[in-house]
Amino acid sequence: MPIRFIEEKKLFKLDAAGVSYVLSVGPGNYLLGLYWGAAVPDANFDGYAFRDYASSFSPSNEAVGEGPFSPDTAPLEYAGFGTGDFRKCAVSIRNADGNDATDFRYVAHRILAGKGKPASMPATHAENPADCATLEIDMADGTTGAELTLCYTVFEDLPVITRYARLKNASDRAFDIEKISSASVQLPFMDFDFIHLYGRWGAERNMVRSPLAHGQQSISSTRGSSSHYHNPFAALAKRGADEDRGEVYGFNLVYSGSFDITADVDYYGTTRLNMGINPDGFLWHLEPGEVFETPEAVLVYSDEGLGGMSRAFHRLYLNHLIRGKYRHEVRPLLINSWEAAFFDFDTDKLVSFAERAKEIGIDMLVMDDGWFGRRNDDRSSLGDWWVNEDKLPGGLGVLIDRVNALGLKFGIWYEPEMISPDSDIFRAHPDWCLHVPGRPNSIARHQYVIDMSRQDVRDNIWEQMNAVLSKYKIDYVKWDFNRNLTEAGSALLSAPHGEEIFHRFVLGTYELMGRLTDTYPDILLENCSGGGGRFDPGMLYFSPQIWASDNTDAIERLAIQFGTSLCYPASTMGAHVSMSRRTGFETKGNVAMWGTFGYELDPNRLTEKDLEIVKKQVEDYHKYYELIHYGDLYRITDPWDDAFRCAWEFVSPDKREALYTQVTMRYHHCPTLIVRFKGLDPRTVYVLEATGEEYSGALLMNAGLNLSRYPRGTGESFTLHFIKKG
Ligand code: DGJ
Repeated sequence: MPIRFIEEKKLFKLDAAGVSYVLSVGPGNYLLGLYWGAAVPDANFDGYAFRDYASSFSPSNEAVGEGPFSPDTAPLEYAGFGTGDFRKCAVSIRNADGNDATDFRYVAHRILAGKGKPASMPATHAENPADCATLEIDMADGTTGAELTLCYTVFEDLPVITRYARLKNASDRAFDIEKISSASVQLPFMDFDFIHLYGRWGAERNMVRSPLAHGQQSISSTRGSSSHYHNPFAALAKRGADEDRGEVYGFNLVYSGSFDITADVDYYGTTRLNMGINPDGFLWHLEPGEVFETPEAVLVYSDEGLGGMSRAFHRLYLNHLIRGKYRHEVRPLLINSWEAAFFDFDTDKLVSFAERAKEIGIDMLVMDDGWFGRRNDDRSSLGDWWVNEDKLPGGLGVLIDRVNALGLKFGIWYEPEMISPDSDIFRAHPDWCLHVPGRPNSIARHQYVIDMSRQDVRDNIWEQMNAVLSKYKIDYVKWDFNRNLTEAGSALLSAPHGEEIFHRFVLGTYELMGRLTDTYPDILLENCSGGGGRFDPGMLYFSPQIWASDNTDAIERLAIQFGTSLCYPASTMGAHVSMSRRTGFETKGNVAMWGTFGYELDPNRLTEKDLEIVKKQVEDYHKYYELIHYGDLYRITDPWDDAFRCAWEFVSPDKREALYTQVTMRYHHCPTLIVRFKGLDPRTVYVLEATGEEYSGALLMNAGLNLSRYPRGTGESFTLHFIKKG
């Protein structure tokens, strides 16, 4: 069993794939986080529980008596607020008496096979309960009567622990949750770099690395979605850890709303990291008997640097997060109308795209924004999900029949969480958008945010969507989300529930998305938020792919895709070849191939030469599908360390095959270019497919190859395909 309770020591030991996590029930029944890192044998962990001396500024209490033990200096696994631990708390409750002192102590525990999940929220899962085990620890706060359960799951074959918390009001008076973390971890060092992914529209997920110092370092979203600005991902990398070596602790939140990840270094130089729903803009009212559950947090430990961390996240998400038909089935290769036509299309134009796409070998036409209501630009009609017959005479059926007759599948675009002031639905229901009384609504892209917390609103949107999806043969839906939440209030939520709106909005979105995936399991769902503004594990639970960015320039995409790859696998990154001008079609294809791959252009504008390249890309898409979608990623050179070139490599899980891609961002003269490959089997002889040359894995990884004979001009790129000999 990967989880054990060692009774005599009151120790919990969680062991999985080279990782150990140790907790204990300490003095006064405090729950203590003693160790997390590379696998260690069973031992006496007493010395890790607290320090010998605490000054008079470190209080104790009657449960532990005056003495060396103080909550201030002990590694509390899930600290409350205002009762002796002065670091950033994991949980705080405003009780009926109006104060927020909170202090949870161990009560009981259970060790279970398999894993549970927070109700109404996405989470990782295990089809076979034998793949993982779960520890549930019950705690209680004597004064408020709050009962807390911390849930830990260990995946036996992965260096991963997932966590979430459940809080019950077991008292006879209501209280408000001010903050509740999904996970809080204690590490007895501070020599870490804090790594995270910041971005903006068109430039998502840039890696930032800065040393932790005394004090706090945090990333968060207050936007109501995980957002372009910060991804709900952070890592603590031991000073000196790099892509391939050293210890890295990775954190990712399975949540699509406002979040917070804070690392707090205390005065003894220990680090606590809390992650969960952002407490800013959150206050959850809990009546007696009611329960609140947090989103799930994913914790990865790697002693193979950032690369090892990424591969663990990728494997977890491929095997235990992404669901549905397209988790393993080959996805149709698509062409999307957005950059080809924007709002300016009709049936004939779309069919002309499909005809040419058919010649190229593309499998599906996606009709993006502009097919509904009176939407000829972005000023109107969100919420009016009926077909615009001025553009599509005879309706959707005519278009879909013509596309299907060519042998292509058909996909469609929605933005269900939005409402245009200029729409029939808004004129009929002006209170269906988020708003607060007496305050004018902010507008963005000429649209308001619809009130997803309301069941009646969701039912209406669903009825409209279902009317289309049930009537026509639709194989794919792109679900977009093009602004953030402001004036976040609901006509149906007043005090004491008013501040629940941000979280209720997310729950509403999950509920509606779940209706779509449950009712239409064969539809391929792709998420999107003005590009990659909601690229998070919560969304991946519903859609196996997410549009990574509206920026389709192949060079700009490199940083976006490198950053995204820190925790998300290639098969999730929406990446298309477009008419962007900076590179030729070879490089556009080589970059988009590191993702879901598709096209976003008017195929009738391709020159004969480009057409030949595109046809070859389609062949390569099929040839390398398995390797890229299910292989292991090794980043060779990233855009932050090298201003000139980027390179990455996919290796099949059995190490029989590898694909290396290199892109030159900026030419610089250099007579040699030795590249050392990664992740191969040193004893295997590999054949370079294009030339028939043979190399041992050991040579490729240690001595490397001189690649100076390959294209290295600005914007040029190439791939090398290695296959095991024989
Ligand atoms: C933003 C998306 O990222 C684009 O791909 C496109 O779907 C537009 N919205 C449509 O409005």
